[in-house]
Amino acid sequence: MSKKEISRRTFLNYALMGTGGFLAAGMITPMVRMAIDPILKPKASGSEVAVGSVDDFGPEPKKVDFKINVVDGWHKAESTNVAWVRKLEDGSILALSPICKHLGCTVNFNDPSGKPNEYFCPCHEGRYAINGEVILNTPPTASLDMYKVTVKEGKVFLGEKEKNPRGGVKG
Ligand code: FES
Repeated sequence: MSKKEISRRTFLNYALMGTGGFLAAGMITPMVRMAIDPILKPKASGSEVAVGSVDDFGPEPKKVDFKINVVDGWHKAESTNVAWVRKLEDGSILALSPICKHLGCTVNFNDPSGKPNEYFCPCHEGRYAINGEVILNTPPTASLDMYKVTVKEGKVFLGEKEKNPRGGVKG
């Protein structure tokens, strides 16, 4: 073999590898993109659910059930959520999540096993005051989460859950 023939063969090998790599990248890129597309898409935000009119709520927490659409990757489902909603002294609306901040059981307001005007968690006797403040020296270490509340034209809309800024209180 002459030096010129080896050089040509090497060139052809490189040319074939380059073309093959280019074609493979062209085929694989759309497949990878399709596989991870739901992860790259931003979460639908701003989804709010109407749970009644402002006048439906008073100082006593009222339990409301509402449905939300949940999108998890390719899976879409409807989920039922619960909130305890009350009107505060200044007329604003407070909506609390019933999920206990200890281990996730469901709390109940004015539960017969608990104390009056408190939320009670039956799992480990967790207690929360009327605005979701954790009662100190009970198992939960944080106050009940709140739903984002928007009032439009007299209607109450609940959005995503957010941390309750209220600290613990003595029972
Ligand atoms: S889960 Fe509520 S107190 Fe433990």
